[in-house]
Amino acid sequence: MKVLITGGAGFIGSHLADRLLADGHEVRAFDNLDPQVHLQGGRPEYLDPEVELQTGDVRDRGAVRRALEGVDAVVHFAAAVGVGQSMYEIERYTSINAIGAAIVLEEAVERRDAIRKLLVASSMSIYGEGQYRNPRTGESGLAPWLRPESQLAAREWELLADDGTPLEPEPTAETKPLRPTSIYAINKRDHEEMFLTVGAAYGLPAVALRFFNVYGERQALSNPYTGVAAIFSSRLLNDRAPLVFEDGRQTRDFIDVRDIARCCALALTEHGADEHALNVGTGSIAPATSGIATPTRALPQSCSASAPRSRSRPACRTCSRGSRARRPRIRWTRRARRWLRAASRVDRSQRLDRQHE
Ligand SMILES: NC(=O)c1ccc[n+]([C@@H]2O[C@H](COP(=O)([O-])OP(=O)(O)OC[C@H]3O[C@@H](n4cnc5c(N)ncnc54)[C@H](O)[C@@H]3O)[C@@H](O)[C@H]2O)c1
Repeated sequence: MKVLITGGAGFIGSHLADRLLADGHEVRAFDNLDPQVHLQGGRPEYLDPEVELQTGDVRDRGAVRRALEGVDAVVHFAAAVGVGQSMYEIERYTSINAIGAAIVLEEAVERRDAIRKLLVASSMSIYGEGQYRNPRTGESGLAPWLRPESQLAAREWELLADDGTPLEPEPTAETKPLRPTSIYAINKRDHEEMFLTVGAAYGLPAVALRFFNVYGERQALSNPYTGVAAIFSSRLLNDRAPLVFEDGRQTRDFIDVRDIARCCALALTEHGADEHALNVGTGSIAPATSGIATPTRALPQSCSASAPRSRSRPACRTCSRGSRARRPRIRWTRRARRWLRAASRVDRSQRLDRQHE
């Protein structure tokens, strides 16, 4: 099979390319090598020489049409990916993410006789806050809204039921109502709805995968708009204390990029996930601050002293219920240590932007 990966020079795309090549497929990457992600410019060294790289923007119809020539499957990863940045670069995010997806879809539909599968990256951010249960009533599957401003001002960090009972987090099922709280998350919800809707209308098998927090080699630690693990790690590698908001007890579901690649490869070659939007996470909850604790060095003193509240109202606890995806193979703590040791060799001198804060 010949697979086109838009955004294929990026973090997850390049790992998926490795996986597909190892499985005997051909890979074409289509990527504009966005300077925010690709600081060095040019073809990334980590991209396997077997990957055919075409450079271009997903909003350039002619370039997308050329990229689609001769392919059997399309993976759409190209995106502007920063949650915070999306809230003040609304037009750029919506243009790259929504218009880019629209053009990829229109051109894929033109080639629907040849294309056997569409796969798009969605994100756990579309859920907003995670899923909870009330320990007093036993009610589960609760989908609370973000914590109110007044509660955060009172430095009360837990999610509360109407009677004040602190709610307990539980794995988030795909059936949980979607409540995106950023332009990026709205773009990702659009991505999955656009791909599934167009796929169904034209008889093109389509899959949307909701990635949880992905980590691993090649993640651009110098990009201030990546996730919490990369942000904490980047600060540590630059001898700066991570800034921990609230009580530091927020949780996330961290998944190794190679598990993500394995899952995408399965979704491309098998049919069980067709026409579905599925969680891809480990199903186990890790404190977001394990992004700090995992590096071999000790936690700087100043870290525990700083407990401001975030400027935004981030989700408190998110974890996947991987009900339909297969189990992950790689554990966060073991894998993250190796990733961060490798990162310390290459990323220490790179810039650290104020946007981290
Ligand atoms: N990393 C995560 O934790 C995570 C979680 C959920 C979803 N996702 C999604 O997975 C996909 C891949 O994310 P990633 O972490 O590899 O990000 P990344 O930034 O490393 O890769 C994205 C790639 O897209 C390219 N790109 C950006 N704008 C483009 C444009 N206009 N035209 C062509 N190419 C463009 C970039 O140059 C980059 O190589 C994205 O769609 C992202 O929303 C990532």
